[in-house]
Amino acid sequence: MKEKILLELKKHPGYISGEEISNRLQVSRTAIWKNINQLKEIGYVIDSQTKKGYKLLESPDNLLPQEIEDHLKTEFIGQNLKCFEQVDSTNLYAKRMAEDSFEDGTVIIAEEQLKGKGRIGRAWASPKEKGIWMTIMLKPKVSPTDAAKVTLLAACAACKAIEQTCEVYPKIKWPNDIVLNGKKLCGILTEMSAELDEIIYLIVGIGVNVNLDLQDFPQELQGVATSIKIEKGSPVSRRDLTAAIINHFESYYKVFTETGSIMSYIQEYKEKSAVLGKEVRVTSSTLQLTGTVVDISQEGQLLLKLEDGSIKEIISGEVSVRGLNGYI
Ligand code: BTN
Repeated sequence: MKEKILLELKKHPGYISGEEISNRLQVSRTAIWKNINQLKEIGYVIDSQTKKGYKLLESPDNLLPQEIEDHLKTEFIGQNLKCFEQVDSTNLYAKRMAEDSFEDGTVIIAEEQLKGKGRIGRAWASPKEKGIWMTIMLKPKVSPTDAAKVTLLAACAACKAIEQTCEVYPKIKWPNDIVLNGKKLCGILTEMSAELDEIIYLIVGIGVNVNLDLQDFPQELQGVATSIKIEKGSPVSRRDLTAAIINHFESYYKVFTETGSIMSYIQEYKEKSAVLGKEVRVTSSTLQLTGTVVDISQEGQLLLKLEDGSIKEIISGEVSVRGLNGYI
């Protein structure tokens, strides 16, 4: 009910009387009053005047569907939006949901994750109301071997959305870490269920450190992770950024599924690259290599020039960039 009342308040930039809301929604004045109080409790600033009624003065920066939906320009991504106060992990929630059935483009968002998952079995710190912890659920009709391209595309979309809504200019550390001033700002964890030649589902988990303060990160990450608030010096709207990521993601994703290629945005990806031209170390479960990144291929692979002059194509791995103090 409070969602419907909120919608009525939003539709009226001035005051709207309790009677009018009551007539429109066919609920009692007491119910309206109770729900207005609930909205106030979760941070909405609503002026109530005996003769005039109610007026919405300010909305909190929470991630409720009705707040995000207002800013979406998408056809299908985020049209089914599920927002939670707390989950174990939005990726785990998405996987459980996908085992049953789901609408293509469903987005799961949580204000807090108790078991946020990072890559290679790491934990992902996801404190309450400080970041964007979300998972996009997809059914792409492409080969499982192309799934990694969706991760690159997600990094490009998140980076562009951060630039546009927050006016900070991060870089992408191949394949999908977003870094600002040498520290990690955003991570992407893509997981898939597939047959040999068909993807059953693909879930793209995106974590953005938006308004975290240094003490919100575990001690061991304080030297390597950062947030938009820390780098910019002021908090930003999580709601606007969430919508922008979803909007950009859909426009890249549509081109990818229609053409089967990431050619149209690989140039943009390269322009945002934190590794191109740099000396790096690549580590995976099967290799450890050092070399200079000479290019990123049309397929999204890293082209590494080794000491002997040969070029090695890297499909996956963890990259550290050589900095002043060794590799970061
Ligand atoms: C990384 O290690 O860089 C990937 C981090 C991915 C974190 C996001 S937060 C939303 C989604 N749910 C999770 O549990 N993980 C991803």
